[in-house]
Amino acid sequence: AAKAVKAELENLNSQAGTDRKFKTEMDGFYMLFTRFLDERAKGSKLDWDKIQSPSKEQIVSYDTIPKAGPEDLTKLAVLKLNGGLGTTMGCVGPKSAIEVRDGMTFLDVSVRQIEYLNKTYGVDVPFILMNSFNTDDETKRIVKKYETHNVSIRTFDQSKYPRIKKDSFLPVPRTPDAPIDQWYPPGHGDLYESIYNSGILDELIAQGKEYLFVSNVDNLGATVDLNILNHMVEKDIEFIMEVTDKTKADIKGGTLIDYNGQIRLLEIAQVPDEHVEDFKSVKKFHIFNTNNLWINLKAVKRIIEEDSMDLEIIVNNKTTDSGEKVIQLETAVGAGIKHFNNAHGVNVPRSRFLPVKSTSDLFLVTSNLYSLVHGQLSINPKRMFHTVPLVKLGDEFKKVNNFLSRFKTIPHILELDHLTVTGDVTFGADVELRGTVIIVANHGERIDIPPGSILENKVVTGNLRI
Ligand code: UTP
Repeated sequence: AAKAVKAELENLNSQAGTDRKFKTEMDGFYMLFTRFLDERAKGSKLDWDKIQSPSKEQIVSYDTIPKAGPEDLTKLAVLKLNGGLGTTMGCVGPKSAIEVRDGMTFLDVSVRQIEYLNKTYGVDVPFILMNSFNTDDETKRIVKKYETHNVSIRTFDQSKYPRIKKDSFLPVPRTPDAPIDQWYPPGHGDLYESIYNSGILDELIAQGKEYLFVSNVDNLGATVDLNILNHMVEKDIEFIMEVTDKTKADIKGGTLIDYNGQIRLLEIAQVPDEHVEDFKSVKKFHIFNTNNLWINLKAVKRIIEEDSMDLEIIVNNKTTDSGEKVIQLETAVGAGIKHFNNAHGVNVPRSRFLPVKSTSDLFLVTSNLYSLVHGQLSINPKRMFHTVPLVKLGDEFKKVNNFLSRFKTIPHILELDHLTVTGDVTFGADVELRGTVIIVANHGERIDIPPGSILENKVVTGNLRI
């Protein structure tokens, strides 16, 4: 298979002429592909018995890290992973262009945070976006509006790899300009190679930047934390992964493990089938990866140049628009942890993990549970409980447009514990929800919650039109 794939890639390369980026990407893909074949031959699933919970030194509690001032900010750059689209929430274009709060998009919020940091401390923290071919054009267009802002923005386009056929492993695209659904962005683990290939890694190092704070663009809790930055500098740490305590609802995220004395990220894709329940449980694995990462830039350069970045491969099965079964080989950025010296996890408060994956999350972050100050969301001090409510909005609310049209204004939820809404339901202005509220409109029914209603520990069913 390796030979046949190599021939096909060479064919693509020769058609691509002088396109250097394309050639570098095909080489990168070939390396990934041969690793994939190797791992398949070896049967690379982990030996479950060698997995141990990380030690106290491997996961440090955030509370034990000393408070720090802004002195290390001159050495910092901030990067957002911006390859994803807003499709799940029914939006076209980059996910980062979705409005999340007070008319601001994810991008606006991130830019606002950096601007505030720059202004407050008189620094110039570069803001970098890693786009994918799905988001690059639109993002470049959007960031023009920040030209007059007090923040330097750089973008680069991550790799574009060919999808391969599930049965033969041969690349699907036959020409470099083959349709878009024949290619894929190979996961955020591609960050290391792509930032290196883009030249931005060298530029940052030349500017005296030493540390990179990386996070998912949809994580509104991922703000620059001076204490973690300082901890990294003082203790000479090359890589920090922010992890947080797992709850029963967190079954997806990767976790940190000790494997033969080495710290590693364990993702569900690497877990043998018979241990998947173990993996999901809170008992054995107490924490999960928030994907907020602090990475030493020179160490990235060293590892890439030593040719030793060897991230576990995640095989993602897909079907193309024409119905062909394909696979894409992906990697996760956090898997890099094993390559860095002195790497460890820091167990941070849940407030640093505030991802918006669905309109149920959007409901929470747009509500009076939070306030947005200088691009930073903070929980309303009037909230009595330390947890956020559990919110499940049904399919009728799934797309952002539908979600917006179903709420005249977002209900007040300071005293809410749990909300489930299904079916054709609308909310008037200034509704207040308290305790556990369940609203179910069955097929053919509609429920309009009147403006100003207060629903406390209530189940609403049937038809209720106003
Ligand atoms: P993921 O797709 O990994 O999301 O993207 P997730 O948090 O695991 O969960 P789901 O799939 O949304 O439920 C995490 C971040 O990485 C970026 C995305 O844009 C997002 O900010 N990303 C992902 C890239 O930049 N490139 C990729 O190839 C994949």
